[in-house]
Amino acid sequence: MPRKLYIRTFGCQMNEYDSARTADLLEESQGLERVDRPEDADVLLVNTCSVREKAAEKLFSEIGRWRQWKKERPDLVIGVGGCVASQEGAAIRERAPWVDVVYGPQTLHRLPEMLPEPKTSGSVDIESKRRPAIDITFPEIEKFDRLPEPRADGPTAFVSIMEGCSKYCTFCVVPYTRGEEFSRPFDAVIAEIVSLAEQGVREITLLGQNVNAWRGAMYDGGECDLAELIAYAAAVPGIGRIRYTTSHPVEMSESLIKAHGSVDALAEHLHLPVQSGSDEILRRMKRNYTVDDYLDKVRRLRENRPDLSLSSDFIVGFPGESEADFQATMDLVEEVAFDASFSFIYSARPGTPAAELPDAVPLSIKRERLSRLQGRLSELAAGVSRSMVGSRYRILVEGPSKKDHRELRGRTGNNRVVNFPCPERFDQAHLVGRFVDIEIVDAFANSLRGSDPLILE
Ligand code: SAM
Ligand code: F3S
Repeated sequence: MPRKLYIRTFGCQMNEYDSARTADLLEESQGLERVDRPEDADVLLVNTCSVREKAAEKLFSEIGRWRQWKKERPDLVIGVGGCVASQEGAAIRERAPWVDVVYGPQTLHRLPEMLPEPKTSGSVDIESKRRPAIDITFPEIEKFDRLPEPRADGPTAFVSIMEGCSKYCTFCVVPYTRGEEFSRPFDAVIAEIVSLAEQGVREITLLGQNVNAWRGAMYDGGECDLAELIAYAAAVPGIGRIRYTTSHPVEMSESLIKAHGSVDALAEHLHLPVQSGSDEILRRMKRNYTVDDYLDKVRRLRENRPDLSLSSDFIVGFPGESEADFQATMDLVEEVAFDASFSFIYSARPGTPAAELPDAVPLSIKRERLSRLQGRLSELAAGVSRSMVGSRYRILVEGPSKKDHRELRGRTGNNRVVNFPCPERFDQAHLVGRFVDIEIVDAFANSLRGSDPLILE
């Protein structure tokens, strides 16, 4: 029987990507088979996120449950990866001596050498201060060179093109936990996209914390930017839709903006986090743009792609945020008419410059602002969904509907799930991985209903 691997993932799409690649790697090198229930596993990993608070608490409550299991099964291997591992390092072993391995976002490829040999007999004192395997360094490119070829899991896939971030926004922990920006070379990225397309992938999402700052080395010694990479990716046979996330407004170059008008495969949706609508707060966040700069990019984007839907991240209650600052954010939301967006209460991250700023805004006020903002953002997103009813949209069919397996599920370019009945003349498998034009007949809070698909290929 193959040994089993369970990975619990917190946080962003980059972490999901890292977990998937970790599973591929450990299957290839150790024959470990990924399972969905931790109770069934021999190796338990948690891939952590520390962007907002309670990251460490979440980690210790997860591995606290596993400690009991390890008492009963000393052969169990427990590992902690991701951004909390990177930040806490050896301190994790101080608090949780039953952890065997601590690895960072840039060293997951070294896991095969770090994992202890399976122990089949004898007892282990799980509370002893054994030397754990700890490696939370940032060895740049080595990670991607040492990971196996990605395996497709359905018609959509993430492709990580960049690691780290060098923007150092004053509230953000990412540059400290994931290291400085590093772009994967052009050839490596295209080879990964070709391999995924050959396995049936039709839609790719290019990933990076600051993805539009990507500058990949070319085979001829030159450099290529994200707009060029997108044009090449769109030419890969089979690839019909491309997304990229997360972008920084400052890196939204004219060539990238123009790509939204010229590359058909580029989805009509862009996640472009603005964080705040107040120039003073943006300055203190060290975002390096003003509200007018942001609006200017939005105007240029919509000139090139009039149906572009835009979403954003917002931080509410940044230290010193006045009611007027917050109102400026609400005004910006109206002006841009953002689609489904994310918003968070500011959370002081140890070691970041903003954590030193005096913060006089009471939590009750921050919560009240967050609920006002989220209320308006949900109304706007619902309005977009309602406006789609009665028109046809292109969707990529991803698989059976989650609610009713007799139906199918796909996703629109503007990132909405559409459930629809499979036409009688086809079986479901025939449609999965195909683009269809579908009429939207109803809109709900989290999905749309479609009918009458027109098969395109
Ligand atoms: N690179 C992206 C950008 O340019 O904005 C953001 C990446 S960050 C990991 C994801 C989101 O988490 C941010 O856009 C921000 O809204 C939120 N975030 C980051 N640090 C935060 C903090 N200390 N408190 C609250 N939200 C935070
Ligand atoms: Fe964080 Fe700002 Fe980079 S939000 S990931 S430091 S662009």
